[in-house]
Amino acid sequence: MFGKKTNKKHKKMVSLVTVADKNSVISEQYRTIRTNIQYAMVDRMLKTIAVTSSGPEEGKSTTAANLAVVFADTGLKVLLIDADLRKPTIANSFVLNNSSGLSNLLRDRGASFDQIISDSGISNLWILPSGPKPPNPSEMLSSKRMSEVTEDLKRHFDLIIFDTPPIIAVTDAQIIAAKADGTILVVREGMSNKNALIRTKVLLENVKANVLGIIYNDSENNKDSGAAYYYYGD
Ligand SMILES: Nc1ncnc2c1ncn2[C@@H]1O[C@H](COP(=O)(O)OP(=O)(O)O)[C@@H](O)[C@H]1O
Ligand SMILES: [Mg+2]
Repeated sequence: MFGKKTNKKHKKMVSLVTVADKNSVISEQYRTIRTNIQYAMVDRMLKTIAVTSSGPEEGKSTTAANLAVVFADTGLKVLLIDADLRKPTIANSFVLNNSSGLSNLLRDRGASFDQIISDSGISNLWILPSGPKPPNPSEMLSSKRMSEVTEDLKRHFDLIIFDTPPIIAVTDAQIIAAKADGTILVVREGMSNKNALIRTKVLLENVKANVLGIIYNDSENNKDSGAAYYYYGD
């Protein structure tokens, strides 16, 4: 399941290895990543974390979902938001309905998140799916309403993790990273391209994103011992 790069074309969900196999090496690696982020949290108030990468299929959603699970395991009240309004996967991954979500909250000022946020079925973890695809995702994500909704959600959750689209293709992830307390960059072996990474760095610097570190996903050298590695700092 988790160690294969094949057969991913038709999948619109990611592997929740931290739920399916809590004792696996990969789950342990997500816990190591969690520890690194927790250290960053001591110095700075980190309540919102954006997960992004340069291109598609690099493991943003996988990382965001599994990190949300391991943080919820610590007892923090965690909200995972699918802010990839263009190619959402979070609802499917948690077997939830995506008929209402973030796009509804942003469009309709009267919408209440109580009715839109779903219980993930995992203790302490709640999900805000993307909702129906809007015609103008970037404008919605950069709206004042988005800031208000986020502030409101911060009062109700200890940690909010945003899954985002690829940063190079569209500006959405840049918008979210600019507002988030911290950003995590996912790099996938054999997929992420050097020039794209350089461009990603510039795009994140331009909006003064607080990049917490890089997750090196799917390393061939470490297939036996799992897939995710984390380097804190740069
Ligand atoms: N380390 C990994 N090993 C194997 N498959 C992976 C790994 N990371 C991600 N995948 C798979 O690759 C596909 C793309 O991952 P996803 O997290 O959806 O990427 P993104 O959100 O960046 O587009 C999914 O099918 C996911 O299950
Ligand atoms: Mg994704």
